[in-house]
Amino acid sequence: MKQERIRMRPIWQDEKTGAVQVIDQRALPGKLVTMNLESVDDVIFAICQMVVRGAPLIGVTGAYGVYLAAKNSKAPLTDKTCLKQEAERIIAARPTAVNLSWAVQRTLEAVLAEPNPDARIQAAQNQAAAIAEEEVQNSKMIGHHGLELIKDLAQKKSGAPVNILTHCNAGSLACIEMGTATAPIYAAFDSGIKVHVWVDETRPLNQGSRLTAWELGNHGVPHTVITDNAGGHLMQHGMVDMVIVGSDRTTFTGDVANKIGTYLKALAARDNNIPFYVALPSSTFDWRIADGISGIPIEKRDPDEVRYMPGKPKTPDNLLLPETSPAANYAFDVTPARLVTGFITERGICKATASDIKNLFPEK
Ligand code: MRU
Repeated sequence: MKQERIRMRPIWQDEKTGAVQVIDQRALPGKLVTMNLESVDDVIFAICQMVVRGAPLIGVTGAYGVYLAAKNSKAPLTDKTCLKQEAERIIAARPTAVNLSWAVQRTLEAVLAEPNPDARIQAAQNQAAAIAEEEVQNSKMIGHHGLELIKDLAQKKSGAPVNILTHCNAGSLACIEMGTATAPIYAAFDSGIKVHVWVDETRPLNQGSRLTAWELGNHGVPHTVITDNAGGHLMQHGMVDMVIVGSDRTTFTGDVANKIGTYLKALAARDNNIPFYVALPSSTFDWRIADGISGIPIEKRDPDEVRYMPGKPKTPDNLLLPETSPAANYAFDVTPARLVTGFITERGICKATASDIKNLFPEK
C-alpha cells in the first residue's frame, strides 16, 4: 500500500459527476473498494452496515444524506415535512455517535433557512462540504495539541520509543485525514519522535486490526496488533506509556462513550498510573447529557457479528460458538470522567470536568 492512501479521504464528491463516494471500509485491509451513495437509502445502508463508520465520518455522511434527500426530492422542495422525515430516518441509522444527529440537524437547518427552494440543494451540499472541512481542520489541531503530550513523554524516555495504546479506529478512515486518536501519533512520528502503537484488534468487527493497523502501516508508523484483552498485561509490565482513544459521544461533564472495551482499558490504565487521553473534535460533545452511563444510548448490534467469523458467509463452518448459544453485541461502553486524564480537542487540552470543558468551549 502506498503512503498517499493515508491522505485519501473516506468520503468525497466526484469532481466531474458530483456523485457522493465513500471507501467501503468493510473490504479493508484486503481491498480498497469505493461505493457511490445516490439516495437516502444508500446513506442509511452505508451507516448501518458500517461501510462508513467512526463518529465524525458518519456525521459527514449524514450531512450528505440530507443533500441527497433535497436533490432527489419528489415532493416540491417547499415541503419541509418530507425533508425533516428523511433527516429523522438518517439520524436513526446509528444511535451512539452524536455527530450524526448534530451534522444532520445542522445541514437540515441550513436547508430550511434558505427561502428559495432552488437554492436548498446547494445549501445542503455546501453545509456537508463545510462540515467535512471543519473535521479536517479539527484533526490537524488535535494533532498539534496532542503532539506536546507525546513530546514530554519522549523526553522522559530519553529518546526510547513512546508506546501508545489505542482502541478501535479513530484514524483518518473514521474522522477524515489525520483522525483524532491518531492525529497526535502522526504529528509525533512526522516530527521525528520515535513512537510505537499497540493496536487493540477490537472485536467483533476488528476496526483496530483491519483499519488502524492498515492506516499506521501506510504511514510507516511502527505498530503491533494485540488481542483485546492484552492491554492490561502490557500496562503491568511497563510496556504502555499512554493510551489515546477516540470518542463517539462525550458528555459536557466528561463521560466518554467509545467502542466497547474502552472502559476496561481506562480501568487498567488507572490501576497502572498510565495517562488515559481521549482525542475528540467538539462535534463529539453532547451538551445536553450530564450522566453518560444513564444518558448515552448504547447501540446493540446484530449478535451474528459476534457469532460468525467477520467477513465470512454465515455458514456452520464459520461459527465461532455453538450454534445454539445466544450472543450479545454491545457496541460501545461509557468510561466515566474520573478515569480520563484529559481531552485533546481542536482548541487544546483540558481535564475531563464540566468546568474545564466549559472554559475551552464557553459559547456552549
Ligand atoms: O462502531 P464504529 O466503528 O463506528 O465505532 C466508532 C469508533 O471507531 C470508535 O469508537 C472511535 O474510537 C471513535 S470514532 C472516532
